[in-house]
Amino acid sequence: MHRRFFAPGVLAAASVLLAIPASAASSAPGASGIGDPYYPAYGNGGYDVSHYDLRLKYQPATDRLEGTATLLARTTEDLSRFNLDFLLDVGEVQVNGAKASFATSGEHELEITPKKALAKGSHVTIVIRYSGVPSGEKAYGFTSWHRTADGGVAANEPEAAWWWFPSNDHPLDKATYDVSVQVPDGTQAISNGTLQSTTSRLGWTRYNWRSNKPQATYLATLAVGKFDITTGRSESGIPVVNAYSKDLGDNDGAARASIERTGEIADWLAEYFGPYPFNALGGYVPNTNTGYALETQTRPFYSPRQFAAGSNTQVVVHELAHQWYGDLVSVSGWKDIWINEGFARYAQWLWSEHEGEGTAQEIADYVYATRAADDPFWTVRPGDPGPDNQFHIAVYDRGALALQALRNEIGDEDFFAILKGWTQKYAYGNASVGDFRAYAEQVSGQSLGSLFDTWLFEPSKPVAATARSASISRESVAPAQPKSWRKIAATNDVHDHGH
Ligand code: TRP
Ligand code: ZN
Repeated sequence: MHRRFFAPGVLAAASVLLAIPASAASSAPGASGIGDPYYPAYGNGGYDVSHYDLRLKYQPATDRLEGTATLLARTTEDLSRFNLDFLLDVGEVQVNGAKASFATSGEHELEITPKKALAKGSHVTIVIRYSGVPSGEKAYGFTSWHRTADGGVAANEPEAAWWWFPSNDHPLDKATYDVSVQVPDGTQAISNGTLQSTTSRLGWTRYNWRSNKPQATYLATLAVGKFDITTGRSESGIPVVNAYSKDLGDNDGAARASIERTGEIADWLAEYFGPYPFNALGGYVPNTNTGYALETQTRPFYSPRQFAAGSNTQVVVHELAHQWYGDLVSVSGWKDIWINEGFARYAQWLWSEHEGEGTAQEIADYVYATRAADDPFWTVRPGDPGPDNQFHIAVYDRGALALQALRNEIGDEDFFAILKGWTQKYAYGNASVGDFRAYAEQVSGQSLGSLFDTWLFEPSKPVAATARSASISRESVAPAQPKSWRKIAATNDVHDHGH
């Protein structure tokens, strides 16, 4: 994928030409990226958002989205200017109650210059009025907005926010959300968290959603369309709200037979990962023609196609596992994607075991035995796969294999203590692959450097002796294909969705 970046020297040269007010001689523009080496232009520097309040109106007939975003932030530097990431048309910006000037640059930058420079450590309220047709916008040649027959959906990873709200678009800057969307009566707006209220007036219904725990920008979602909404509670008491497009056709029954098990599956996962971390739960299936799912916080996005072969609890397990591994504890940088995908895939292996369709050990042995040494699978390093291989199958399968190797090395007691303890240690925050290794070493009291190198970082297949010493594929005969194998493989669609 081609991305366009500014050379730092060009930016520095441009900024010295700007008139700097005497009162803020030390202030400078915030960086146009948060500093993620995989995606240098994603997120921004100089501030941290604590809350997004989005008051929107959406017209399904024209795909027009308009409204006001109010962001509460705190500066982390003296700022003469700062950026947000956004693609729609901005009409007006206010910073701390005063009109600010703004301009666009790069693929998705909105540059905001407040009347007065902002001092480090101050609270800032940013109000942005905007409108646009999300399906008409592309960045780097792709779109994350999925138009449907009766509306539209924002869901993608790592980028989905640009098409519907201005943000500091990187998992390092988590915030709470109030998402309020007005749609024509008879149409529903689905988002994360709890539905606080709905009000109807003059042919329009407003849905007020609240996500009250820190949430990464890519985990915020909006879906507008005609949905059938079901509500319930898991046995442990978590309120569940699911939404099914009214047009799912033949996939409707299988989608419901899978997603209606959300409460049961979340309660089961809590036994491994600790208490469910949010106050809302569910899933939604819009009538898109996409083939992947996404762990949008509290309410994963599923695609109708995932239910074309019948019920698919494996995909529900995967997305719900991410509520702990990905959402509660988010990546520090996109290189840490194993922290999400390796664990969500391992949860699928545990579900296979629970269903009597093959143990995690059997699936790990099968992966090791069936991937030949010259398979490019082994050249991908799940611990730092590079942006082009971020969602390569190796991040999932080799990533989960690494967890089985770790489990065999340190034993079940420490391994399962780590799976649970990790989500508490970094709850509502961010962590890296290095942090996981350090935590596993602390809990197990073992030095695990070479185990992590072998399974997550070496660009080659571990030799048989190494595998045997990690109790992987001890038998000389190739293991039979585990019963769950095809069902798990059917959740792999993301690997060819391509931007
Ligand atoms: N995190 C998603 C999952 O594992 C996969 C994913 C990667 C994805 N890239 C995506 C989903 C882009 C949607 C769009 O379920
Ligand atoms: Zn995943």
